[in-house]
Amino acid sequence: MKALQESNVTSVPLIGRGKVRDLYAVGSDLLLVATDRISAFDHVLGTGIPDKGRILTQISLFWFEFLADIVPNHLLSANVDSYPAVLRPFSEQLAGRSMLVRKAQMFPVECVARGYLAGSGWKEYRERGTVCGIPLPEGLLDGSRLPEPIFTPATKSQNGEHDENISFEQMEKLVGAADAAELRRLTLALYGKAAAHAESKGLILADTKFEFGRAVAQPHAPILLADEALTPDSSRFWSRAEWKPGGAQPSFDKQFVRDYLEAIGWNKQAPAPGLPEDVAERTRAKYLEAFRALTGRERLG
Ligand SMILES: Nc1ncnc2c1ncn2[C@@H]1O[C@H](COP(=O)(O)OP(=O)(O)O)[C@@H](O)[C@H]1O
Ligand SMILES: [Mg+2]
Repeated sequence: MKALQESNVTSVPLIGRGKVRDLYAVGSDLLLVATDRISAFDHVLGTGIPDKGRILTQISLFWFEFLADIVPNHLLSANVDSYPAVLRPFSEQLAGRSMLVRKAQMFPVECVARGYLAGSGWKEYRERGTVCGIPLPEGLLDGSRLPEPIFTPATKSQNGEHDENISFEQMEKLVGAADAAELRRLTLALYGKAAAHAESKGLILADTKFEFGRAVAQPHAPILLADEALTPDSSRFWSRAEWKPGGAQPSFDKQFVRDYLEAIGWNKQAPAPGLPEDVAERTRAKYLEAFRALTGRERLG
């Protein structure tokens, strides 16, 4: 099995390559192609995880449908047979891992919901007793469940930089008070519904990041959920059975990758190494496990 490290669609303009997705312009719409690239410690690794892009795409599609009663999303089609004819020669490469989406004017904010303390949230709490300026009760541990889910916005980082947590007031300055309030409401509603579903499947949704936008052609158009939704790349999923506050929880999907990179003593500077086959294969199995648990489906489409 081979990982697709870069897509190569030559009939439409390539707009850019993110850490995981390649973006193409298709008329006034966008084609998002999830490759098999994997990043760890803010670097894209030298080798990918076979099928990862298909798994992420299909997890996102599941959630877009599951959450459509809360917010409309950018999806136009994920069926390659209905894509514009210029894409036809690339159907094989695109099937299962791509989405044709409405191009959106993205809000310059990552909309994060946290139901548990971890990562940068834990770090700020330990130093100041707050997360994004929100005061929290004393005595919480790394991995503790919060009294209630909180909205913790961040600014979107440029290549390789950490996202920076900001206060709600800073977000209001960036997007305006009305949109900030609406994005907070949507983020928490999406998190609540998704976390309850995950929980019923044995997974804790500790936190997740959404990106929203508005359709470019319609300045007063409704807010759309864009990008990916509730994948292991945009979220911290933990095994409910293994959850134990008091230290960093094992990463559901990337633990083998991180363990390997620590073991070889990589200095976390570019160029990032590749992964041996067994580490890639075990990581692939974790992504598939998340896909199966969340969607209830056995096989990738
Ligand atoms: N509907 C959309 N309109 C415009 N941009 C989008 C849309 N959906 C997602 N994007 C952008 O496409 C990129 C997806 O690629 P990704 O590999 O996730 O990038 P990143 O490294 O920034 O996470 C992100 O920059 C995201 O903001
Ligand atoms: Mg992304």
